[in-house]
Amino acid sequence: MEHFVVTASAARQRTDCAIVGVFEKGALGIAAGELDTKLGGTLSRLVKNGDVRGKLGETLLIGDLKGSPCQRIVLVGLGGRDTFTRKQYRKALAAALTLVIKTGAREAVNYLSLEKVRGADVYSLSRITAEVTANALYRIPDLKSTKKPPAPALKRVGSAADRSDKSAADRGLTHGQGISTGMAFMRDLANLPPNVCTPSYLANATRGLARDYRGIRVKILGEPEMRRLKMGALLSVTNGTEEPARLIVAEYRGGGTAPPIALVGKGVTFDTGGISLKPPPAMDEMKFDMSGAASVLGTLKTVAELKLPINLVVVVPACENMPSGRATKPGDIVTTMSGQTVEILNTDAEGRLILCDALTYVRKFKPAVVIDVATLTGAVVMALGSHLSGLFGNDEGLIDELREAGERADDRAWHLPLMDEYHEGLKSNFADFANVAGREGGAITAACYLAKFTKDLKWAHLDVAGTAYQGGAQKGSTGRPVPLLVEYLLSRRQ
Ligand code: BES
Ligand code: MN
Ligand code: ZN
Repeated sequence: MEHFVVTASAARQRTDCAIVGVFEKGALGIAAGELDTKLGGTLSRLVKNGDVRGKLGETLLIGDLKGSPCQRIVLVGLGGRDTFTRKQYRKALAAALTLVIKTGAREAVNYLSLEKVRGADVYSLSRITAEVTANALYRIPDLKSTKKPPAPALKRVGSAADRSDKSAADRGLTHGQGISTGMAFMRDLANLPPNVCTPSYLANATRGLARDYRGIRVKILGEPEMRRLKMGALLSVTNGTEEPARLIVAEYRGGGTAPPIALVGKGVTFDTGGISLKPPPAMDEMKFDMSGAASVLGTLKTVAELKLPINLVVVVPACENMPSGRATKPGDIVTTMSGQTVEILNTDAEGRLILCDALTYVRKFKPAVVIDVATLTGAVVMALGSHLSGLFGNDEGLIDELREAGERADDRAWHLPLMDEYHEGLKSNFADFANVAGREGGAITAACYLAKFTKDLKWAHLDVAGTAYQGGAQKGSTGRPVPLLVEYLLSRRQ
């Protein structure tokens, strides 16, 4: 996709398709008004006839235009003018682009970015344009044997801005495209079936990144190396499967000698629960249990694509969680890389077991900040649903930065507490602690478990079990929390 900034008036800009808006009560947007004048009142007549009312997301395709610089117009409802927010802007633009893609237009120009949008500046509007375009064009790499529908003709999308705002708009498009690239990378990996996307597949995909981008270096550790490093917790999860586990380590250098930011992603490529077997309904969705891994790899791709002046280290513990005669049993006690012992009371609480060893491993990079991302608990879905990710950590400043980054990126997270009281449930009579507490506060006790391995690190944890993918008819990866992570890296206070 090629993106560009358009500074000419809609009445003069040639294009295959102009995307213009109309607010509730029939008030034409800025570019719609300019085109209306140019076309002798065509758009205002459509409004007067009641063909379009300005309801958010409703669309009307107007084609075969005489005397117009654009071949088509997509007129889209923007909702109330006083409440025109970033969310409305996204929704209207997405609806308009869905219609544009159905036409044969090879190019479109989005003029909605000329409107006053609450909580958005020129930069963020053009960034959203690029993100929404990529999302509208995203297709799941499916394995259907039927003929694929033809690829959309749309190849170029312009974003309108005032001439004086051109450089901010350009920057927004670049960042939006970079973020979209990382999101698509994540989504492709997470959408693959679990017999394809194995730990080795994730490792090879990461090697691919190192081939594509100078600045990325990759090291893959196998099980013998994990044994040498005494990663007893990670190894206990992979015990039951035939599929070899991998510890993926990728480094990006763009920031000289500064200590790196570390991203750690849960890479369970399929979670059956192990001996504590999950019930059958929706178990297929446990192929998405590597979403944390895919999100940190997607973020790495974006960072390399945008050549950000930072140092990043990405660590992904990747394995399957399967039952078998060799699988870990409830009651087994293992020694983690940190030396702490864990009584595994539930083999379905495997995410924290692989993460704790990865979080210990990452210390060798002396990171300035460590953020782990994981589809860690069903409990966080009960607490927050699918709109917000759970955010935990041991540093108020880092938590604030991440929460604010999520707000700005429209990829929100909510801070949940991590207090001493919650650690009590993890007590064990037989080991230093157990890997599960009771049912109550499950997202918090999972984070408490991780906190035992991140003392003296500046650490945050994102539980994305509710946000990283959708179930049901829309089943698929969302690409979250790539936008939050990239926004944090773009704006991090040193
Ligand atoms: N991968 C799951 C968490 C999950 C559940 C993600 C639902 C997405 C949707 C994780 O490994 C798990 O099984 N967690 C258990 C923990 C429990 C045994 C303490 C859970 O949430 O039930
Ligand atoms: Mn599990
Ligand atoms: Zn899991």
